[in-house]
Amino acid sequence: MGQWDDELISLLPSSVRIFASAGAGYNWADTDALARKGIWYANGAGASDDAVSDAALYMILSVFRNFTRQQLAARTADPEIFTATHKMIGTISHNPAAHVLGIIGLGSISKKLVPKAQAIGMKVHYYDVLRQPLSEEERLDVTYHETPEGLLGVADCVTLHVPLNAHTKNLINKESIACMKDGARLINTARGEVVNEEALIDALKTGKISAAGLDVHYHEPQVSPVLVKMDNVTLTTHNGGGVIETRMNFELNAMKNILAVVGPDGRVVGKPITPVNRLRSETSEFRTSHNSIILFVPIYLSSVYQVARIRLDVSKSNYALAALDCYLSSALDGMEVAKTTRNRAPPKEEWERIKPELKRLLIDEKLTLKETARYLAALQNFHAS
Ligand SMILES: NC(=O)c1ccc[n+]([C@@H]2O[C@H](COP(=O)([O-])OP(=O)(O)OC[C@H]3O[C@@H](n4cnc5c(N)ncnc54)[C@H](O)[C@@H]3O)[C@@H](O)[C@H]2O)c1
Repeated sequence: MGQWDDELISLLPSSVRIFASAGAGYNWADTDALARKGIWYANGAGASDDAVSDAALYMILSVFRNFTRQQLAARTADPEIFTATHKMIGTISHNPAAHVLGIIGLGSISKKLVPKAQAIGMKVHYYDVLRQPLSEEERLDVTYHETPEGLLGVADCVTLHVPLNAHTKNLINKESIACMKDGARLINTARGEVVNEEALIDALKTGKISAAGLDVHYHEPQVSPVLVKMDNVTLTTHNGGGVIETRMNFELNAMKNILAVVGPDGRVVGKPITPVNRLRSETSEFRTSHNSIILFVPIYLSSVYQVARIRLDVSKSNYALAALDCYLSSALDGMEVAKTTRNRAPPKEEWERIKPELKRLLIDEKLTLKETARYLAALQNFHAS
């Protein structure tokens, strides 16, 4: 696909309105640069969830049961190797049941993986920069950890489902591996560069990590020549999502996104269904500091526009930044009124109370801020009456 950077994007004609990707990850496109040029970037979010979560389940089974080692032995067609492997496998393999699966990044794909892992008896824990609402944790029957280290310390098998960005590159490195349980397993179906390959190889050599399942690779399409020699490592060709159904869903989503943005006469008629970026005209100013973002969001509460100040620790996540951008993108509707009501912010406790619900509506339900505000106002009125 190549790297869509500022230079390449600047060459696009000004009539381009949307970049509708028939894929999920978008680390190869500078979506902010597209936004600066007034171009939406939309992906096929959700299209590959079934396939990638199945692939992760395959990797989990493989690392616990040593299926790659068995397969390599069987493929030698050598009776001696067959017999030796047959005898050995039962002494080094385990049922995944009753073991802890540690998910890093509980999003669209890994939420599909949760019941699949539970179906083979695993207990599921997770870490994410954005905690799920309690009701969602209860529905999924998952245990949250405040820090990645906390999760790594209890997981028998860690599976990665974060997007690749500046914060997640080399997320699994020498230091984080040191926090893992001795002999734990690692699965990566997200992006190769999320795992520092040298640190992984070192850990596999010492046995700190007993087995790994990698669908994606640090120097893709080059697979590590060291890893290919390790029979406790299951390797695939970045085909976690590789099924016809995924392609159909991706292409369908791309068409839906295009139709949502460009009308039959070529004019812009709306926003994509699954946008990744936000256009400048859609966002209001916000300022960032080292580990926090302070922003003003006008929302409709108790039938009055009010301005609220939210302070969220989002330093580790571009995804969270995108979510906050999403708050802002719809906030313009209330701005005019907000200016006059700047001092009427709800009390801090009130914000603490509604923040989880706000996040759920904006991120899980993908409502716009305006829709969310209406919902919260209705709720507020309901409780008041
Ligand atoms: N192997 C394949 O064929 C294939 C196919 C599709 C997607 N993918 C990869 O899977 C990734 C996940 O996809 P998804 O649709 O579930 O994404 P998603 O956006 O629904 O979920 C990602 C989750 O990661 C969390 N997150 C972001 N930064 C984090 C951090 N630093 N620490 C912890 N959590 C963090 C987010 O809050 C979010 O909950 C994609 O970004 C893509 O790279 C791979």
